[in-house]
This record gives sequence, C-alpha cells and structure tokens, in this order.
Amino acid sequence: MPACSSSENAPPASALPAPAPTTASVPASVGDPFDVPIDHATEAELRLFATGDALFGVPLRDADGLGPLYTRTSCGACHATGLRGPGSVQKMVVVLADGVTPSADQSALPFGHTVHPQLTAGATSPVLPPTDASLNVKVTSRVGPSILGRGYVEAILDSEIERVAAEQAKRTDAIRGRINHVIYASEANTDTRFHSHRKGDVLIGRFGLKGRIGTLDDFTADALQGDMGITSPLRPVEFANPDGVKDDLKPGIDVTMESINIRSNYVRLTAIPKRESVINGAALFAQVKCSACHVPSMRTRKDYPIAAIADTDAIVYSDLLLHDMGTDLADGIADGEATSRDWRTSPLIGLRFLKTYLHDSRATTLEQAVLMHGGPGSEAAEAVALFSALTASEKATLIAFVGSL
Ligand code: HEC
Ligand code: HEC
Repeated sequence: MPACSSSENAPPASALPAPAPTTASVPASVGDPFDVPIDHATEAELRLFATGDALFGVPLRDADGLGPLYTRTSCGACHATGLRGPGSVQKMVVVLADGVTPSADQSALPFGHTVHPQLTAGATSPVLPPTDASLNVKVTSRVGPSILGRGYVEAILDSEIERVAAEQAKRTDAIRGRINHVIYASEANTDTRFHSHRKGDVLIGRFGLKGRIGTLDDFTADALQGDMGITSPLRPVEFANPDGVKDDLKPGIDVTMESINIRSNYVRLTAIPKRESVINGAALFAQVKCSACHVPSMRTRKDYPIAAIADTDAIVYSDLLLHDMGTDLADGIADGEATSRDWRTSPLIGLRFLKTYLHDSRATTLEQAVLMHGGPGSEAAEAVALFSALTASEKATLIAFVGSL
C-alpha cells in the first residue's frame, strides 16, 4: 500500500500500481498496456475510464469504512492492472468423504463459505477455516480473474446465451452447458442506463467463476462489501462476523452510488486486447472442440449504453455457461444453480498477459491448463483427448493460438 494520503474520493495518480514490464509486441507508448479503453470510446467515456482506473487501484483505509473484516484493500490488489491476482479469496466448505460433495450440515461454518482474514474497526475475530481436521472442511482459493473486456460480457444478449445452451442440449457428446439463473441481490441502482433491476429479480448469471452475478454494478457492490467490508447504497449492510460488529470507523454507508458506478464503468470500458493471427490456430481450436464451450463470438444488445460495444460481435471465447468440469477441479462450493463441479467457461481474453491459469492459478503453462480440463467426469474430457492426440506441431500451433488471445 503506498504511503501517500489516498482517499476514496480523491484518487492520486501515484496510488496506481506500477505498470508491468512491457513486451516487444505491445507498444510502450500506450502507457499501461493491459487495461486500455475500448476503441471508439467517446471523450466522456475516456474520462470515465481514467477516473475509474485510478479508483480501482486506490487502497481504502479505516476512515473510508474498511472492514470490520476484509481480505484486501483495493480492487487492484486482486486484479492488478485488470489481470489475474495476485490477491485471492479463500473459500471453505464442509464436504463428505469423497472430498467434493458439500455436506448438508454446514453448521461448522456459521459465517459462510468465505474466509475473511483481516481485522479493523474494533473487530477481534477473523473468519478462518476451522483447524479441527475431523470437521472435513475443504479449503480452496479463487484468484481474482482478469476483468478485461467484461463490458462486452455484460452486453451479450440473453437470447444468445439461451441459444447456445439450447444447441448444446442437442449435442450427442458430453458437452452440455447450463445457465446459472441468479437473483439480483443489490438494491436498485439510481443510474438505470445499464439496467433497472430490482432486488429479487432473476437474471442470467454471467460474472464470477461460477456465473453467480448478472451485472457489473452488482458485482462491484458485492466485491466492495465482501472483499473489503465497504458498504454502499447497493449493499448497505456489513456482512455477519463473529464479534457481531455492525459498523466500522465510518458510520453508516461507506461509499456513494457514484463510486460504485465509476468502478463498474471502468470495467465496462476496458478493451479486449488485440489478437495476433496464428495460422491454422482457429481451425484446430474448433477441430478439438475447444470452441464448443469457448464460443469465439457472441452478439451484443442493440441498446447497450456504450455505443462502441452495442450490436456487435463480442469476441469473448466463452458461452458464459456452467459446465461440469469433473472432480479434479471441484471445490465443494455451490453458487446458485452451480454445483461443486461446475465452472463458467472462462472468457479467453488477454491470455498473453496471464502467467497462471484456472480458477485457483493451479496451471502455470497453457498446456497444463488444457490437460487439467480433462479430469474424471469432465465435460471437456473428449476435447482434451483430441488435443492429446494431435501431433507435436499441431499442439504447438493450438497453444500459440490460445496464448495470442
Ligand atoms: C480479495 C481479492 C479481491 C478484491 C479485493 C476484489 N476482487 Fe474482484 N474478484 C476476486 C475473485 C476471487 C473473483 C472471482 C469471484 C467468484 O467467482 O466468486 C473476482 C471477480 C470479479 C469480477 C468478475 C469477473 C468475471 O470474469 O466474471 C469483477 C467484475 C470484479 N471481480 C471486480 C472487482 C472490483 C470492481 C473490485 C473492487 C471494488 C474487486 N473486484 C475487488 C477477487 C477480488
Ligand atoms: C466443456 C467445456 C470446455 C471445453 C470443451 C474446453 N474448455 Fe477451457 N475452460 C472451461 C472452463 C469451465 C474453464 C474454467 C475452469 C477453471 O477455472 O477451473 C476453462 C478454462 C480454460 C483456460 C484457462 C483460462 C484462464 O483464464 O485461466 C484455458 C486456457 C482454456 N480453458 C483453454 C481451452 C482449450 C485450448 C480447449 C480445447 C482443447 C478447452 N479449453 C476446452 C470449459 C471448457
């Protein structure tokens, strides 16, 4: 955390994380090479992007309403320059003897499935995994995923996602993605340009590793509340904690609606990094069925309020559906209709900037990431077998293609 006097409403430029080293393929002149704004953004959108970019990196302090429990102090701590990690969230769940099926009895975890390790504002008891091994608690981690290009993800038509799910339901192989229907859990946003959902509305979940949230403002409010202990008009209540502390050092609601919308709009306006073409890569990607789940292109809404990403083909390489990825990737956590073994197809965006892959960063090369899809019971097992049967040079072409996305 920088020693400067950062505060919620006046983000100094110096609070931004240092730019990561640039590579030869990325012109240094564009500044931070990862999280650049979308092409054809308006002047007003570029200003929103810059304000949001700064706020995203600002660490919040006690006086800003941090805590009473929290995990990290800024969005950027877990999504550095919009990419994966380094910060992560630990999850915990009581499982049955098979190690992956959640137990019906979760009473050993009265404060839920999320670990909240850090304390402030008079709290004295963090929420940590119980140490008693006989309780059979599975502890896993979710590393903050890349948030690049997520405006496109938000803009994708519901009917596109439903169409792809219906097509997969007719397949004769194992690939059968499902929509996570989720409840909009925030209060209504006063800025109704992006949506006018009310608390309790049922939406298509498209954000989060298990597709547990439908809109970017809801996600931002959830992240502020859940990861940082920052309440907002969308999520006005501190989450339950062992000390029963109901507020922090900033009385009442900690940040404004505008502050939520500034961060959400930054995420909405981040570009999908430009792709280089890899000869034959796309054909191999389709041939071994990667593209069945990592659907290259999905159509966006005509009425999405950011004109540059409305009514266009969003090249997200995801169907945004849940897939049963088998027991090796299972984490024991159910999120809405997502089960322990289900994960949302990761959008393949900005992969050339990532150093680790999969929800918990367990893969350190792309080839590992692919092979780890193929565990027992995974819908992707056939695709991984087809990949493994390719010649060495075909594999290299396919990996180069994925690494260029
Ligand atoms: C402690 C680490 C941490 C902090 C702090 C954090 N995030 Fe996240 N973020 C995560 C993790 C982990 C996930 C995946 C969560 C899940 O699926 O349950 C995630 C997911 C997201 C997503 C969804 C991405 C996708 O592909 O669906 C968005 C958007 C996001 N975060 C935005 C934010 C914003 C905005 C902030 C600051 C207000 C923030 N995050 C703070 C760890 C963090
Ligand atoms: C059945 C659907 C399905 C198929 C088929 C599939 N994937 Fe995936 N892919 C997923 C899901 C779901 C995840 C997220 C898993 C996780 O994080 O644990 C994922 C994650 C990834 C990631 C990691 C992305 C990141 O941000 O860490 C890469 C790379 C990837 N897939 C490439 C491929 C390639 C290449 C193929 C073809 C050989 C393929 N996938 C086939 C569903 C699929």
